[in-house]
Amino acid sequence: MRVLAIESSCDETAAAVVTDDAPGERLSMASNIIYSQVQTHARFGGVVPEVASREHLHRLFAIVGEATAPVGGLSGLDGIAVTRGPGLVGALLVGLQLAKGLALATGLPFVGVNHLEGHLCAALLAEQPPAYPHVALLVSGGHSQLYAVRRFGAYELLGQTRDDAAGEAFDKVAKILGLGYPGGARLEAAGQGGDPQAVMLPRALAGRQDVDFSFSGLKTAAMRFVAGQGGSLQGQALADFCASTQEAICDVLTRKAVVAAKRCGLPGVVLAGGVAANGRLRSMLEGRARAAGLWAFAPPRPLCTDNAAMTGAAGLLRLRQGERTPLCQSARSRWPLAELAGVDAAQGQGL
Ligand code: KG4
Ligand code: ZN
Repeated sequence: MRVLAIESSCDETAAAVVTDDAPGERLSMASNIIYSQVQTHARFGGVVPEVASREHLHRLFAIVGEATAPVGGLSGLDGIAVTRGPGLVGALLVGLQLAKGLALATGLPFVGVNHLEGHLCAALLAEQPPAYPHVALLVSGGHSQLYAVRRFGAYELLGQTRDDAAGEAFDKVAKILGLGYPGGARLEAAGQGGDPQAVMLPRALAGRQDVDFSFSGLKTAAMRFVAGQGGSLQGQALADFCASTQEAICDVLTRKAVVAAKRCGLPGVVLAGGVAANGRLRSMLEGRARAAGLWAFAPPRPLCTDNAAMTGAAGLLRLRQGERTPLCQSARSRWPLAELAGVDAAQGQGL
């Protein structure tokens, strides 16, 4: 089966073709095209929703053409998947309407994909995907959540952030330091060679046995520290502070992921979401999981941040089980994973 996937939930305009033609029905990518709008939004210091929608409109048609070229265009496809939510509604609608139009014109089966499920499915595109069941640590710009994932489509929320998401914490501290947007990767880069123990930053809720997070205190602590240093940091002081911020965020995330897996009796942890591209998070989780007798898995870095291949992986699996989304369904700004019908329950029905 070959599925075209479109992703336009935020500031990446993306299309991919995902197939299960490989031996053992392993998922792989025939194409994965991403146009990042970062340059456009950078001068505003963050994503401007209206501008994102216009850029999607401007780029998406050509990107879909590029993504479908390796399979001989639309005639080489067996289905169409598109991110339906959660995300910026105006941005989502651009991808959704194009995908619906293509489905209508071709008569191909159509499925609307949950962006969070897409992130969790990025791991399935690896050469050797992780096995079910496992705990998933989903850390992006809008979400910090831990799930028990017993099989594809069955997600039990174990804990989540009470305020800011981990990616948001990276972005806000980066902004305070004047590193610009997008903050996470810039803060990681600026922290290279820094001492992660140089500045003790809050690790909220770390000692508790629940698996919730809170990152808003980190932003306040960062503001106070920077103000106390005369309003800006340079050179080694900047590197030390960035490394310390990263350490504080990763410390809490990895500690709670291990607690969650142990408590549920699940054998491993899968990382997902844009923050999963962070090198320190990946290595710290690996070390802590191993020490606790668990395995850890992180998808290839380019598949952690927003892309359409992950949407295609989730979409292909849902289409393969017979799921179809009626074309009258629209975009969803909020769409908790817990509301997703498991694949068995959803067979043959619209979402
Ligand atoms: O999953 P994603 O691409 O978009 C959302 O669905 O939100 O995640 C974006 C988030 C941003 O907050 C960004 O700063 C963060 O992921 N991020 C990182 C890194 N790369 C992206 N955070 C820390 N280290 C990175 N290398
Ligand atoms: Zn995302």
